[in-house]
Amino acid sequence: MTYPPPERRKPPAPESNAIGLLGDLLARRRKQSILVVDDNAVNAALLRQLLEGRGYPTVAVQSAAAAEAEIERGAPDLILLDVVMPGKSGYDLCRELKTDAKTRLIPIVMITGLSAQEDRVKGIEAGADDFLTKPICPEELFARVASLLKLKEFTDELETADAVLCTLGRSVEARDPYTEGHCERLARDAAELGHYLGVDDESVRALERGGYLHDLGKIVVPDEILKKGSDLTPAEWEIMKKHPVTGETICRPLKSLRLVLPIIRHHHEHSDGSGYPDGLRAREIPLLPRILQVVDIYDALRTARPYKPALSHEQSALTMRAEAQSGLWDAELVAEFFAMLAKRRQVA
Ligand SMILES: [Fe+2]
Repeated sequence: MTYPPPERRKPPAPESNAIGLLGDLLARRRKQSILVVDDNAVNAALLRQLLEGRGYPTVAVQSAAAAEAEIERGAPDLILLDVVMPGKSGYDLCRELKTDAKTRLIPIVMITGLSAQEDRVKGIEAGADDFLTKPICPEELFARVASLLKLKEFTDELETADAVLCTLGRSVEARDPYTEGHCERLARDAAELGHYLGVDDESVRALERGGYLHDLGKIVVPDEILKKGSDLTPAEWEIMKKHPVTGETICRPLKSLRLVLPIIRHHHEHSDGSGYPDGLRAREIPLLPRILQVVDIYDALRTARPYKPALSHEQSALTMRAEAQSGLWDAELVAEFFAMLAKRRQVA
């Protein structure tokens, strides 16, 4: 079968909205900024002068607390961080920034003393990207700064592409008014379930991304099929069933989505092998898509659609446990999910 059907294939616009948006975002690249954190006012001012002399917008602050306030105002593209400061040390600030999803991709250069092998080991453990030793050699400073800012530029481009794909995922959802907010809930709850089960941080982030991207492939499913929801003809069903592979193909070029690809491809597999696209069984289905699937099914049951009413929490739990027993879902994960929801209700 030709896919999509020839009669529904439209000639491509000269420049589609998505490509235009990505181009705009990349073209509007702002000047990269630097934050210097050093409790010694003379050192901080000297670094700021050197960097501004090279055309880098630079802010200098003298404590970790002031640095945090500055980052909150607007994330810099690079941080030069002194190790020893009163109050929170450079290591502690570095560790905190590197574990926060909002700031973990900002390169951090730690400024250490001359004979500071131990400082460097601690800095590496805290997640520092590079080191400069005092007294600062201006040429070394400029070389390190230029190389890390280049790296940050590439990271930003990847992040932008990633964000554009998530926006596209939301736009697919927006075509069906009955699924409003589904992506956000799925991203939040799948990440929470992953965290509850103790998967690593990278997998938790993949689950969050999977919430937005799992149905991205529906972008090529025509409206009349997408909005029908049920009673699809066999031919329409064949088109619908291609969305996991199409979504995976769209996202595959982005290396940062490596862990999200199996979520996109396998979120419609069933434990008994009756799902698609690969008919995988039980533990053949990777863990992350099984986690997302449990959350996805619950959200679908709890939401009203043109062809079915919304079920209560209790009805949804009964339905999912019965379907898990009959071989559709991972019974163990279903049990863990409801245990997590029960715990969440106790806390609330
Ligand atoms: Fe799907």
